[in-house]
Amino acid sequence: MVASAESVAFLHDDGLTDEQRAALERAGDLGWTVKAVPFEDVGADSTNGTTPAGRLTERFDVLWWHADRPIGTAHPLATVAETVDAYLEAGGDLLLTGAGMAAVDALAVETVGPDVVEHDSAGATTGLLWRSLYNDHPVASRFDSLRIPVRDGGEPAVARYETVLPERGEILASTVRGESDVPQQMRVVSWRAGKGTKTGATAGERSAVDGSTAAGTVLGVGAGLVFDGSAAGTFADDRDAVLSGCLRALTGGYDHPSRPHEAVDLAGMREALSGDADRPSYHLTPPANWLNDPNGLIEYGGRYHVFYQYNPGGPFHSTIHWGHAVSDDLVTWTDEPVALSPSPDGPDRHGCWSGCAVDDGATPRILYTGGHGREQLPCLATAGGERLCRWEKHPDNPVIEAPPADLDLLETDHWAAEFRDHAVWREGDTWHQLIGTGLADAGGAVLHYTGETLTDWRYEGPLLVGDWEGAGAVWECPELLDLGGTELLHVSDYESVRYFLGERRNGRFRIERRGTLDHGDFYAPQSLRDGDRWLTWGWLKEARDVSAQWDAGWSGALSLPRELSLGPDGRLRQRPAAELRELREGDLDLPDSLALGAGERDRFDAGSQALELDLEVRLDDAEAVELSVFESPDGSEQTPITYSRDGTLTVNRAAASADDRSFGGTQRMDVTPYDGPLSLRVFLDGSVVELFANERHCLTSRVYPTDAASTRFSLTARDGRATVSSLRGWTMGEAFADGTENWQCSAHR
Ligand code: FRU
Repeated sequence: MVASAESVAFLHDDGLTDEQRAALERAGDLGWTVKAVPFEDVGADSTNGTTPAGRLTERFDVLWWHADRPIGTAHPLATVAETVDAYLEAGGDLLLTGAGMAAVDALAVETVGPDVVEHDSAGATTGLLWRSLYNDHPVASRFDSLRIPVRDGGEPAVARYETVLPERGEILASTVRGESDVPQQMRVVSWRAGKGTKTGATAGERSAVDGSTAAGTVLGVGAGLVFDGSAAGTFADDRDAVLSGCLRALTGGYDHPSRPHEAVDLAGMREALSGDADRPSYHLTPPANWLNDPNGLIEYGGRYHVFYQYNPGGPFHSTIHWGHAVSDDLVTWTDEPVALSPSPDGPDRHGCWSGCAVDDGATPRILYTGGHGREQLPCLATAGGERLCRWEKHPDNPVIEAPPADLDLLETDHWAAEFRDHAVWREGDTWHQLIGTGLADAGGAVLHYTGETLTDWRYEGPLLVGDWEGAGAVWECPELLDLGGTELLHVSDYESVRYFLGERRNGRFRIERRGTLDHGDFYAPQSLRDGDRWLTWGWLKEARDVSAQWDAGWSGALSLPRELSLGPDGRLRQRPAAELRELREGDLDLPDSLALGAGERDRFDAGSQALELDLEVRLDDAEAVELSVFESPDGSEQTPITYSRDGTLTVNRAAASADDRSFGGTQRMDVTPYDGPLSLRVFLDGSVVELFANERHCLTSRVYPTDAASTRFSLTARDGRATVSSLRGWTMGEAFADGTENWQCSAHR
């Protein structure tokens, strides 16, 4: 018999603690029918023909365990695990609060339990930092902010995920402490138990449905929801609203959010973010959450695969997996589910960091950096199928046991030795590998290895050491590209991407020319050999703070693919891949050319924030020409791009946003050696300004216009006359227009 439409079994050990008693009473005050049930009754044998799980299912909608102290190993959880599992399979729900979330592995709900269980003594006001992706959850929808304080005192027992993610559960919220967002401390997790779809909302309805299709939800709230004493302080109402929201989410059958390893709803994630004008539409972005470096770029079976550093846990850098997108034409892309995840017991437990793909006799393999504790070491994996949906890790990972013993590599707070990122290629029968590092007594360095197989590596020595002033302490993501006779080596030094043109001689790279690949928010690029050309993508970092990224629900984009080659003058050329012309949709109605009188401004409204503008500019007797983009109707919001007689091109972000969301300053690059007419290709895309000057110099800027009407652009000459000898513009199509229609890797197939 169903005791009530919404009845809760409050689980406890021998006796109730004061805190548990207070929680029990509070739930009653909030209108829930709550009954204290000792664990020993949960596991008790049947006396009247029904199983213990059956009896629980009949009587209770929700089991709630509010653990106010860390759970000892002696706890009799194992004796009730089977019963709880059967209860969940039958559609029952479970709420675990305080340290209770740490029980998920003992209860076989999860294989990877929370990695931090402690008494939280942080003094500041503490609360939940809810993911914007799930702001329709019954807890979040009670608040008009994603930041939900629950206490301002006490030292409650808590559990959270910090350096690992649950394998089966989805993170719903992290932590806010005082005024600071702490996304790395993930404390609300939702699991769906069993394999079915929950079809009944209450115990009564569920008992009527076939047990094989029912499945309960487990909600872990490892935050300090404190009921006894004054710890909740002024936030008691918020705490109550969180508790009620949790119970409502469980009994009301909240449509469970997608999970990284199962039926992940990539199209739904994109859809949820589709109203965000800052989000680029034709640059590659993650479906939601965090993206950094491009990884494992490969053309295989006629398709381009781009993997990227991805955190499924939210829009912040932590718990790094490899996201995956596929294209047939470099223009339209399809999201695929996560392709590589940390193994809880592997050398990549704490992250699958950057790496590359190689074609090993028609078998794609990747080499990437596994992070574990303070170690980072190279790991090998092989494609688990033609579609590159999964990578099977080599059983003997890591394939290099330790960094070279004869080098004094830089040790930092995080790493025993900075030693990561891989570029691998074959010459004859020999594999070559580059790894990025920093030498304690010099600066960033690129280490060179060779091997006959991808598992046995010999250290050859440093290919290049940044032993000059300003070289940077660590070099990340090195890559060596053969540009036909001349080689290009590039490294990312935390600030920018430096490139060197030259050649290898006696195991050392001899620099003939040097430069910066992109003078803006562009980092850690990687390249793909496509026939006889090199295509390079870089990570376009955000230029806004952690909280703005959290609120947006996504972070990071990739640059457009760039063709890198050597010009006839021996200098580097960078051009947008020719295929990008296919993205052009509407031809803007613009004059073919313009004579700019001193101080005059010619204004145009493109009606879109996804544009390409192509122009050629001559300074005549002007000091500078300014192209102002993302301009609002009254001109108060705008991003001027200025080409000056001193041979520089600058992007000034001071007025880019009417609010103060962007903290980017002015960015500048030298275009001097080519001081004839300037040919400029300008790609505008939500919050991206990507510039190609004279097919050589790149500057990519992140800006965040606030006004949806900032779709205008204007041209003006300063201190003299100038000529725009050609001007064309297009609105651009979308990269991810197809949703999941072309999915190759759905977990359901
Ligand atoms: C560069 C980088 C790499 C590392 C990865 C981690 O942005 O720091 O060195 O492998 O990102 O996400």
